[in-house]
Amino acid sequence: MSVSSRNIADIRKDYQMAELDEATAGDDPFAFFGKWFAEAEAAEAAEVNAMTLATVDLHNKPHARIVLLKGLDEKGFVFFTNYSSAKGLEIESNPFVALVFFWQELERQVRVEGRIERVSEEESDHYFSTRPEGSKLGAWSSPQSQSIPDRSILENNYRLYTGQFGNNIPRPPHWGGYRVIPSYMEFWQGRSNRMHDRIVFSQGATEDWAKTRLAP
Ligand SMILES: Cc1cc2nc3c(=O)[nH]c(=O)nc-3n(C[C@H](O)[C@H](O)[C@H](O)COP(=O)(O)O)c2cc1C
Repeated sequence: MSVSSRNIADIRKDYQMAELDEATAGDDPFAFFGKWFAEAEAAEAAEVNAMTLATVDLHNKPHARIVLLKGLDEKGFVFFTNYSSAKGLEIESNPFVALVFFWQELERQVRVEGRIERVSEEESDHYFSTRPEGSKLGAWSSPQSQSIPDRSILENNYRLYTGQFGNNIPRPPHWGGYRVIPSYMEFWQGRSNRMHDRIVFSQGATEDWAKTRLAP
């Protein structure tokens, strides 16, 4: 089967934009993530806050999908979703997850691993209140991850909920935020000849961060 005008095996890119060393990474992985995020924004990275979220289900099978980073504080990385979705159920049964950011415009990848917990009801309420009305109604209308016979179910739900709440659409009880609290953060800078730079911050028994370099 041909899916590309080129042979897929011939697609390759040499990474030459930048270098990453231990001193540049500093001692605070959150501060360094903030610096790289700002640089990715400045470089107009497409969907700069899009991240792959990997979860593991009850049968130890992994699942991955994109979600949007909506907050970052000294504790961790926040995103919002449907608590009754597949990912929500996986998270409730196994609170260890991984995130991946890929900022191709800067030839950079960041990997985050740790445990996950729900944000407070107040945090979820606050973020929900800032969403456009259509997104609020969408959260009510979609039984995320469930099999539906056709699209009309969604459209009908949307119509039913439109007008039901007036101007003040409440947050659905099944919808809210999660915070990923990292114990591992890896910063990857592409380099020439596949000799990339990888600087890792990891926590052992204490909350102190140990910094190390990994072979690419
Ligand atoms: C760019 C992009 C951003 C997305 N952002 C979110 C998000 O913030 N929250 C969310 O629940 N799903 C988001 N999705 C949809 C998820 O990838 C996924 O399809 C959905 O959450 C259902 O996943 P699940 O069945 O594994 O729970 C996004 C998808 C894309 C492509």
